[in-house]
Amino acid sequence: MSIDQLEATARAMVAPGKGIIAIDESNTTIKKRFDSVGIECSEENRRAYREMLLSAPGIGEHISGAILYDETLRQSAKDGTSFVKLMEKNGVIPGIKVDKGTAPLAGFPGELVTEGLDGLRARLQEYAKIGARFAKWRAVITIGEDIPSGTCIEANCHALARYAALCQESGIVPMVEPEVLMDGDHDIEVCYDVTEATLRSLFGALYEQNVMLEGTILKASMVISGKDCPEQAGVEEVAEYTLRCLKSAVPASLPGIVFLSGGQSDEAATAHLNAMNQMGPNPWPLSFSYGRAMQSAALKLWSKDMAGNFAAAQKTVAQRAKDNGLAALGKWSKAA
Ligand code: 13P
Repeated sequence: MSIDQLEATARAMVAPGKGIIAIDESNTTIKKRFDSVGIECSEENRRAYREMLLSAPGIGEHISGAILYDETLRQSAKDGTSFVKLMEKNGVIPGIKVDKGTAPLAGFPGELVTEGLDGLRARLQEYAKIGARFAKWRAVITIGEDIPSGTCIEANCHALARYAALCQESGIVPMVEPEVLMDGDHDIEVCYDVTEATLRSLFGALYEQNVMLEGTILKASMVISGKDCPEQAGVEEVAEYTLRCLKSAVPASLPGIVFLSGGQSDEAATAHLNAMNQMGPNPWPLSFSYGRAMQSAALKLWSKDMAGNFAAAQKTVAQRAKDNGLAALGKWSKAA
């Protein structure tokens, strides 16, 4: 795979007014989401739910790609069409989560490291054959008393860079995701410092591992007040801090940046993205790769009556895609 093809895929992922839907919850995580709305976490329910999302009419208008979980990449719609074919037909690029989740970082209480490098080359080769064109690896950085440590940041960024190099070797665009968690009572300044240190470490590691930035996408967390911080930064402030942080740490040769929602409300996730794009022009397209902020309203509806609310749930997810697509252009307004 040439760099040109990787770059073309990366650019298509952040095409104007389009973003990514993350539906790559592991079976453990989707069980939590299903439990919250009283749905049994059976393989068939997981399949039916993902079919509802992936077959929503018009989904490809504002969605460039979808990140799937291993099980989902191998599943099919009720009529036998594989999800990969269904996505291709709808103009949605298939992506795959390839990390194996987090484990405690030995020697560093309260900190996590993402696992999954062993055997990754073979898994990526198989995923590429099935049709995946981009992948995701999520590292988690926790803010707390005296954490994160430099060791935790470095260990996670080293793994992200090793993963990214392996992806490119298999012709897959790596989406690198160092998520700085919103949990905690820290203020936005602390989030800024941690995010900047993490991004600087990440781009240093990518350079060391010969990763081609032109064929890489960053999935970033926004610079935001901790969930329990008594003083919550407003929309403009979050947008300003996030942009300043990205500009100080992310090379302009990167084709694009997408954000995770991380527990923000649907409206806050959209408003923040919109504000950042209104403050442009920026060095890279800024778009979305939301999981919860794309799905939660649709999941709630679908869970109440899977058959009866099927079409209404699809409309809801399509509307979230439209709102976030407008925000990626800085053209969203609350009433839209
Ligand atoms: P949220 O938008 O729900 O944070 O999920 C995005 C994601 O893929 C996290 O890895």
